[in-house]
Amino acid sequence: MRFGWLLLGLTSTFVSAQNLFDPHFQESIPHHPFPFGVASGDPGSDRVVLWTMVMPGKEGTTQVGWKIATDSSMHNVLQYGRTSTDEGRAGTVKVLVSQLPAGSTLYYQFTWKGLDSPIGRTKTTDIDPTELRLAVVSCSDYQTGHFNAYRHLCTQHDIDAIIHLGDYIYETSAERWGPAKQRRRMYRSHLPGHLCINLQDYRTRYAQYRTDPWLQEAHRLHPFITVWDDHEFSNNAHSEMSSAAQLERRDAARQAYFEWLPVRDHPEKQLYRKIEFGRLADLWMLDTRQEGRMQQAENAQDPRWQSSDRTMLGMQQSEWLTTGMGASESTWQILGNQVIFSPIHDSRVFSRVPAIKMDRWDGYPAARNRLVRSWREQAVENIIVLTGDVHTAWGLELQSSSHDDLSATPIGVELVTPSISSFNFNDILPRPIAWEAERRFKKKKHNPHLRYLDLVRHGYLQVTITKTDVLADWLFFNPRRSTAKVQQRRSYRYSRGIPGLERVRKKSP
Ligand SMILES: [Fe+2]
Repeated sequence: MRFGWLLLGLTSTFVSAQNLFDPHFQESIPHHPFPFGVASGDPGSDRVVLWTMVMPGKEGTTQVGWKIATDSSMHNVLQYGRTSTDEGRAGTVKVLVSQLPAGSTLYYQFTWKGLDSPIGRTKTTDIDPTELRLAVVSCSDYQTGHFNAYRHLCTQHDIDAIIHLGDYIYETSAERWGPAKQRRRMYRSHLPGHLCINLQDYRTRYAQYRTDPWLQEAHRLHPFITVWDDHEFSNNAHSEMSSAAQLERRDAARQAYFEWLPVRDHPEKQLYRKIEFGRLADLWMLDTRQEGRMQQAENAQDPRWQSSDRTMLGMQQSEWLTTGMGASESTWQILGNQVIFSPIHDSRVFSRVPAIKMDRWDGYPAARNRLVRSWREQAVENIIVLTGDVHTAWGLELQSSSHDDLSATPIGVELVTPSISSFNFNDILPRPIAWEAERRFKKKKHNPHLRYLDLVRHGYLQVTITKTDVLADWLFFNPRRSTAKVQQRRSYRYSRGIPGLERVRKKSP
């Protein structure tokens, strides 16, 4: 018996790479030493994370070379080195390169078994930039449309970084998701064909997404700054999972995320972190799902909803955020946030829908009030909350006082990016009903802080930040056709010290 266990241990150490992924996906892996391309992420003024993946064979640990240069021909090499990977991390490779020049466009390449990877491009952050251009994306369901936002981003060479606010993958399966009418509108099938539960499932799902040519190319051309939302785990995930099966699934999902995304490694897989853009802006990437989100309340009658000890971020992350924002000397404070922060009054929009969406910050009023109070007490202003999750585009003025008083002077803006492809009102309801919902949401007596809303289009958000202004450009595409052509564009500007998020009329690109 003991000998049998020993044998099992040895064979699992040298398990074939074929066991990494679902057998149905194995055949579709590109025949290339770097089948999922290259990526970079979490830029700093002197550092960046480089990423790739190789398919380790039966040798166990394998060595991978890397180099980073100032030119796309890779002649002027700044640094190079070797690192190792194995099947324990699915052959994924991550290198945190430091001591790099600030504000620089740099190029990098990996070598494995004498073969070179594609050359990637990345950018370190500037010490004192006059302008910052961020692309903000979320909710990229492989099944429900083309990744046109990523395709368009491959043509945008002046972007400093792409912020992905979560639902980078969906753990769902078509068989168990949505009515038959919606399933018919799906374009591509997920692999594995079932709900993701174990490590092999989640690895296969990330690998499948990385076979999309535009996602892979966007990673090659731009540094990504990412956080997870719920669908990297399970629908409406929170931190109070307790059964052994739930914890095992959560751990598998976390491991796969850290393997496949170019985020800085952390011993406890903690994802919240700060990215500095010199004196212009601090970006606070929040984890509103896994770190300290209590289970959501059932409804407004549920006593948990108004409870004063209710947390969205958890105590440690809240302390880190409020202390850090109070001490920051940067002009802008940007939050990389998942669910809508501002209060939304939607009780008159659909009578059948509950008036309070418990999944958003509206479901955690005590936690939101504590955060807003800390901003007021520390005189924190010029806040830009970037949000994903709801698959629709929103522009909101951020309030400084009690969230029951929506007429106060704004201290910033909340900009919500639409889904890249995931279903929204347009995919689920007849369009006239969606437009009527927009009209009701925008009624001043309900939501006076809501300046812009689009419930039917898909795309992404570009944010251009200078010392004085924030320009938000929502770019929309038809997800039913593979195209980088912008279908429609809406632009709004917020200026420091001037109340209001104002429409800017531009020519469509
Ligand atoms: Fe989503």
